Amino acid sequence: MATLTGKHALVTGGGSGIGAAIALKLAREGAAVTISGRRQQALEEQSGRHTNIDFVTADITNPNSVASMFESAHKMAGPVEIIIANAGIAKSASLAKTDLSLWNEMIGVNLTGTFLTLKEAAKHMSGANWGRMITIASTAGIKGSSYISAYSAAKHGVVGLTRSLAIEFAGKGITVNAVCPGFTETSIVETTIANIMEKTGLDEEAARSALTKSNPTGKIIQPEEVAAVVNWLVGPGSDAVTGQSISVCGGETW
Ligand SMILES: NC(=O)c1ccc[n+]([C@@H]2O[C@H](COP(=O)([O-])OP(=O)(O)OC[C@H]3O[C@@H](n4cnc5c(N)ncnc54)[C@H](OP(=O)(O)O)[C@@H]3O)[C@@H](O)[C@H]2O)c1
Repeated sequence: MATLTGKHALVTGGGSGIGAAIALKLAREGAAVTISGRRQQALEEQSGRHTNIDFVTADITNPNSVASMFESAHKMAGPVEIIIANAGIAKSASLAKTDLSLWNEMIGVNLTGTFLTLKEAAKHMSGANWGRMITIASTAGIKGSSYISAYSAAKHGVVGLTRSLAIEFAGKGITVNAVCPGFTETSIVETTIANIMEKTGLDEEAARSALTKSNPTGKIIQPEEVAAVVNWLVGPGSDAVTGQSISVCGGETW
């Protein structure tokens, strides 16, 4: 049974990876889904996977672009009631090699981009008395690891932003939750495996196994597993769940 018929969801970074899986899941549940990102071709490909999916190009680091993204989404499918702030980038480096440019990039896209997205979403949701805000943070938003200090700081910021907005919007029918994936089978993991191979000389299987060790179940998470949790958080029966950071990581963090 379709549980999201009549709802409009905007998924940032919906042209690939976890965002694409979330968009498809919500569309299959009956929602009108707008996906966004910078690469038009990727967005066109993903929107072709379901008639309920449309797209708009946008850069979440630019406030004007974020405002236009919501305006275009509104014109295409009505007010946005569900925002999935998923767009993000991951780069790793030791502290010594983390220069200001890398730091600013990690904070700018992952934290400031999420802030700009949720700030604009709140304007569009005000007065509706129902809404769902989901941030896609990371297990790196809950625990630290070496070589990802900038990314991890940004994702911890996303978790803090999520918790604070949950309280701010608690009386307005809007829930705000963070979903925190562990290593998930997308281009981010492909790049991480390539980096491990390059820096350590390990072959692909050994590099992959270095990543799966962080997950007690010994697996890389699939994007559809993250999408299933998001789908539950935006669907019926989740009204009492807000301000949470829900790990999808086979027990890596809690
Ligand atoms: N894969 C993992 O292991 C993992 C684990 C934990 C958390 N996460 C988080 O999950 C989210 C999705 O990542 P993914 O793994 O699915 O990787 P992905 O396939 O690279 O997806 C990231 C998406 O973000 C979009 N994006 C990046 N910068 C943007 C910007 N400035 N403006 C608008 N869109 C932008 C990209 O689209 P364009 O390039 O077209 O702009 C892309 O579609 C990220 O927040 C990531 O930190 C991933």
